[in-house]
Amino acid sequence: MAKELSRREFMGAGVALAAMPHVPEIWIKRAVNPVVIASGNGHQFRNGGEETCVQTAFRLMTSGEDVLESLVAGVNIVESDPADTSVGYGGLPNADGVVQLDSCCMHGPKKWAGGVACLEGIRNPSKVALMVASETDHHLLVGKGAQEFARAMGFKIEDDLNTEKSRAAWLEWKRRMDPSHYLDPAKRGGSETAERMADEGWFDPHHVWGTINCNGINAKGEVAGVTTTSGLAFKIPGRVGDSPILGAGLYVDQSVGAAGSTGRGEANLYGLCSFLVVEELRRGKHPKDAGLEALRRVAANTIEKRLLDENGRPNFGLNFYVLDARGRHAGVAFRPGSRYAVCDEGGARLETCEPLYV
Ligand code: GLY
Repeated sequence: MAKELSRREFMGAGVALAAMPHVPEIWIKRAVNPVVIASGNGHQFRNGGEETCVQTAFRLMTSGEDVLESLVAGVNIVESDPADTSVGYGGLPNADGVVQLDSCCMHGPKKWAGGVACLEGIRNPSKVALMVASETDHHLLVGKGAQEFARAMGFKIEDDLNTEKSRAAWLEWKRRMDPSHYLDPAKRGGSETAERMADEGWFDPHHVWGTINCNGINAKGEVAGVTTTSGLAFKIPGRVGDSPILGAGLYVDQSVGAAGSTGRGEANLYGLCSFLVVEELRRGKHPKDAGLEALRRVAANTIEKRLLDENGRPNFGLNFYVLDARGRHAGVAFRPGSRYAVCDEGGARLETCEPLYV
């Protein structure tokens, strides 16, 4: 992937060419073409501003900002936007009506990792995850401890992250549910109710298991990733999915690449599939094939009838977004129709995810 760098590209990569006036441009090699990828919501929401997540992350990264800080600034747009009901402020709440957020991040070159789970009252959990990575010896803080850590780091704790829309959807869900649903898994129908409500327009169908994952590589070849979510809509309080778990919702290896997920966290947690994807990259697979291998593993591990469609295939959604250390990327999904966000020197766009089943 190494290529000659023009003066414009070199400046775009955030390097001061003026500081090296005697270096002929033809000698300057770039490690890799910088690129940011994300789940589709990474090029959908703007929180009232001009840029989407991938545009912001790419602009910052190519202006010389740290690769992970750029990605976190990108996902902050989606976390802060009340219109995305799968992430941050306005994320769909748990069964008690409380918004509980999960996030993790990894910095390839620094070998940093940090995560938070069941975090309440802070609309940008990815920022707290970054502080767990940068300020502590730990990798994962949960619940009250995560909130107290955030408070100590100067974050404002809000009483309630619900919006009118997320609260109305929760109240409707409560109204429809069998109050004994916790006791009998066969009868509880939790996500079915949520999926039916999504079909009726209460919220975006992709937001039952929402989430944003965003991965990037800069011109120096530095890789990082971040995943952030409000988790499964109307989950049992305290439930943690794949998003904040290193190896499940995200994994980054500086020498190999990055992978992250959106979709049914339980299916991914069982196989720690972002780690699996990165290991497949290490064996030389293209990002698309590495991602599809993880979906095959999930399908092989899905045997309960309630989770299978009429063809015996997983009836839920799970996507992986994969970026290798050469800057090649892919999004993969069980079925056709998903897209993922990309921003590189060609601009920001949505590209088609490769489906496992056609
Ligand atoms: N993938 C998000 C979740 O299951 O919580």
